[in-house]
Amino acid sequence: MRAADRWATWLQDRRYGGDREWKTKTLAWLEPVRDRVIELAAIEAGDTVLDVGAGEGMIGFAALDHVGDSGRVVFSDVSDELLRSCAEIAASLGASDRCEFVKAAASRLDPVAASSVDVVTTRSVLIYVEDKAAALGEFFRVLRPGGRIALFEPINSFGRPEPEDRLWGYDVAAIPDLAARVRAVLNEAQAAAGALTMTDFDERDLLRWAEAAGFRTIGLRYEATITPEAGLSGISWEAFLGFSPNPLCPTVGEAMQQALDRAEQRRFAAHMRPLVEHGEGATRSATVYLAATKGGSGASPATGS
Ligand SMILES: C[S@@+](CC[C@H](N)C(=O)[O-])C[C@H]1O[C@@H](n2cnc3c(N)ncnc32)[C@H](O)[C@@H]1O
Repeated sequence: MRAADRWATWLQDRRYGGDREWKTKTLAWLEPVRDRVIELAAIEAGDTVLDVGAGEGMIGFAALDHVGDSGRVVFSDVSDELLRSCAEIAASLGASDRCEFVKAAASRLDPVAASSVDVVTTRSVLIYVEDKAAALGEFFRVLRPGGRIALFEPINSFGRPEPEDRLWGYDVAAIPDLAARVRAVLNEAQAAAGALTMTDFDERDLLRWAEAAGFRTIGLRYEATITPEAGLSGISWEAFLGFSPNPLCPTVGEAMQQALDRAEQRRFAAHMRPLVEHGEGATRSATVYLAATKGGSGASPATGS
């Protein structure tokens, strides 16, 4: 059996707590995000599209539908496992000849030649990249003049750190001691795994880095929402225990086990379970779509709906 890396394990399983129904819901939620990135990318038949941090190929395979028989999609990722999985999907679609698979970090796209692609897409990847300015510089380098980037990123610095009385959006004011210890385990594990990259930037940084990379025509759409429902509304308790909010984070169940003894785990679960099962929480989230053109006509990329 192949050893799955943390990116593949998270995308394929831990992100959904192993719950297929939750996976279906999440992917349905992501469809409009995918469609907007593709729309912003303004892909034309014959284009070469580079999808950076392709994951399971959600954006890359959508792009493939737009490049036509003469176009190409280059799937790049740091995960061998995910690249292999994309290659298998491409083969099953009979599209291997229009796809390429490149192992590279977003900030070091060395295998991709300068001015060799028409479009760069990326979704929820820069949050994991330490040197985001370098990544935008690489996107600029690999684009031909007139080429475009279209990206989507969560702006996690909007909702984090959570207030002391909240954990994953749930009200933990009644169990402050337990919540603080679970939070400490989560924070420590994430810091050790390099997850500070997920909260160390906002939409203004992305604009600034895009401009510094050389893009002169840039559009950005920022959306921030605060809602009275938990972001995980509808998830079962079992799936919640197996859920991890990102590839660098332990699952809820793992964090509980590390932070609490058995009696404390029962107390924690007794408080959390009804909240989780009834979706009683609050969510603060912000996201950004950014589109930019390398030189070219100067027309402003449309990011609005
Ligand atoms: C949240 S997933 C997004 C996957 C895909 N873009 C999508 O829209 O479903 C993040 C992806 O970024 C990849 N990744 C993580 N660090 C990266 C880096 N430094 N450079 C490029 N890709 C990276 C992971 O392997 C994973 O496939």
